[in-house]
Amino acid sequence: MREITMGTNTTGMATSPLDGKELIEAALAIPPSSPGSEADAAAVRTTYAKESGSIGSVPPPASLKGMAKAVGELIQGRPPALLIDKLGERLAFERSGTRLYEALIAKYDADGSFEGGPTRADLEAIRDDEMRHAALVCGAMERLGADPTAMTPGADLVGLASSGVLSVAVEPRISFGQSLQALLIAELTDNDSWRMLIDLATAYGQTEMAAEFRAAEQHEAHHLELCRRWLSSLLALGARGEPTAPASPQQAA
Ligand SMILES: [Fe+2]
Ligand SMILES: [Fe+2]
Repeated sequence: MREITMGTNTTGMATSPLDGKELIEAALAIPPSSPGSEADAAAVRTTYAKESGSIGSVPPPASLKGMAKAVGELIQGRPPALLIDKLGERLAFERSGTRLYEALIAKYDADGSFEGGPTRADLEAIRDDEMRHAALVCGAMERLGADPTAMTPGADLVGLASSGVLSVAVEPRISFGQSLQALLIAELTDNDSWRMLIDLATAYGQTEMAAEFRAAEQHEAHHLELCRRWLSSLLALGARGEPTAPASPQQAA
């Protein structure tokens, strides 16, 4: 485990108070070279938001059978686009979740765990849960006649939103322990998103689907609980000044 240590960080002004003072004086004395104000920038963003198209659409069910199912009794007359969009979103997130855990396992192999932290088997078990969740959503989409390979607007959105989380996981200078902070973001989102998807499926009359998803929601609650426990253990060790890397990967596994 790579510890947080005092080092030669020169990003703060306190490392060079004289230069810092000059920098502030110059910033106050020299007006910004680009014209306009924050309000002008906001106005441009508003214009773009009004003029830009949407982020995408939900493809209609590929097969006639699927179409009949989607618009027929299964959906109870509601337009299926929203449910399919949110299923596509969940599929994308669970697929990324699998990759997120793969990336964490690679770091675990480099750094090892810490007292109260996960074992390799813990991480593998959650990765497998995420993979099963992706397959679960995939099956649900297929039963509605939807194409699970299509990128829905929601899938695109969560791909963009979670790109930072994945970037943290694969950044080699960020340690295994530090990466758990990004995992917390993913698991918190996982929990709320499954809950909302269950509500949506229920609203669409998809009681069987909702029941299947409840099992996934329970897994996610467990993931979050573990993630919180690992992070708390890591911080507690650090606060006590104890090493956060006593266990080698082999010992911890
Ligand atoms: Fe998940
Ligand atoms: Fe999860």
